[in-house]
Amino acid sequence: MRTSSLFEQAQEFLQLYYSESNLDGFGKRLDQVQVEILQTGTYRLTEKELSYGAKLAWRNSNRCMGRLFWKTLKVRDRRTLSTVEEVFADAMAHLKSATQGGKIRSTLSVYASADEADAGFRILNKQLIRFAGYMLPNGEILGDPDAVAFTSYCRSLGWEGKQTAFDVLPLVIQREGELARWFAVPEDQVLRVNLVHPDYSWFQELKLQWYAVPVISDMRLEIGGISFPCAPFNGWYMLTEIAARNLGDEQRYNMLPVIAKKMNLDQRQVKTLWKDKAMLVLQEAVLYSFQAQGVTLVDHHTASEQFLEFCKQEEAKGRSVQADWAWIVPPAAGSTLGVFHQEWENQILSPNFHYQPASWKQDKASKAPNFAAGKCPFSNN
Ligand code: ARG
Repeated sequence: MRTSSLFEQAQEFLQLYYSESNLDGFGKRLDQVQVEILQTGTYRLTEKELSYGAKLAWRNSNRCMGRLFWKTLKVRDRRTLSTVEEVFADAMAHLKSATQGGKIRSTLSVYASADEADAGFRILNKQLIRFAGYMLPNGEILGDPDAVAFTSYCRSLGWEGKQTAFDVLPLVIQREGELARWFAVPEDQVLRVNLVHPDYSWFQELKLQWYAVPVISDMRLEIGGISFPCAPFNGWYMLTEIAARNLGDEQRYNMLPVIAKKMNLDQRQVKTLWKDKAMLVLQEAVLYSFQAQGVTLVDHHTASEQFLEFCKQEEAKGRSVQADWAWIVPPAAGSTLGVFHQEWENQILSPNFHYQPASWKQDKASKAPNFAAGKCPFSNN
């Protein structure tokens, strides 16, 4: 539990930034920040500090396996945007420049923090692009079961989906103190990959697909004691996120029984390993389809090697890697991966990304947006 003041948190971050970047003038900058905090209760990060801080937040993300590339993060400083329309248009611009037609670029955009002069924003979606889930009258779910609650919230705001298994949800943006607004995401902003299998022609009859770019949009970015509740960021997909979890989990699209049936596998007993065989075919299809369409995606074996390289680089710099084993080790291929055989400390360093309360869940009952997180410059998180 951290109990340091805003000034101490600013000091800790600036020290890190100045020393890792070999910059002069740390003392002068710190004095400036101290005066600013005394006069206004907070301080404003420079664009360069923000940019380095965001990279550090990625480097410190204990659950992320893709951290080898932390230095390449493209940071878009959009703190001056002041309306939800501007934030929406800019989020679409983020998507476009991150997607790059399939050559995905790790990108983060920062919008106004809750304690800057203007009101802060929240994007209520988990990701900029995600598929809707509809509870049908017969109790079945069409689309992504994980999105059922958010989908009905969107419908309560007046959005109507096409009712397919892969409808992209609208983007719901809220300015502090105002009601949430929704915006349809134009179809031409969404790169989708239709899934086919290199050997099995029946696979395409399943009409499966996934979107190319996962842009996490509901986490709070914290740098030097300053909170940014609206700071969407993306990398590219790792194979198992789509092929094991999103399409394979029983509580998600649950495709393994369907694939196993096409493969004529005996599903009466688990010991026939029908799930393992079906999942492998699903993995082959996702990997092949992304490759064929020229969309960046990393398989879990390569990602494991890259993460171990990150650990090596960090240790060479004298820093000990913090990582959450249960999240780092992929959900398939376990002990064949190098990361399976490692252990790490799991402390939460700063800067970092944090979960924050989903304001739309409270919104329903109280109509009052929840901006408690990150509001007080002297609070303890
Ligand atoms: N697991 C999430 C999903 O399947 C995405 C999380 C971020 N993943 C990433 N490769 N940057 O949509």
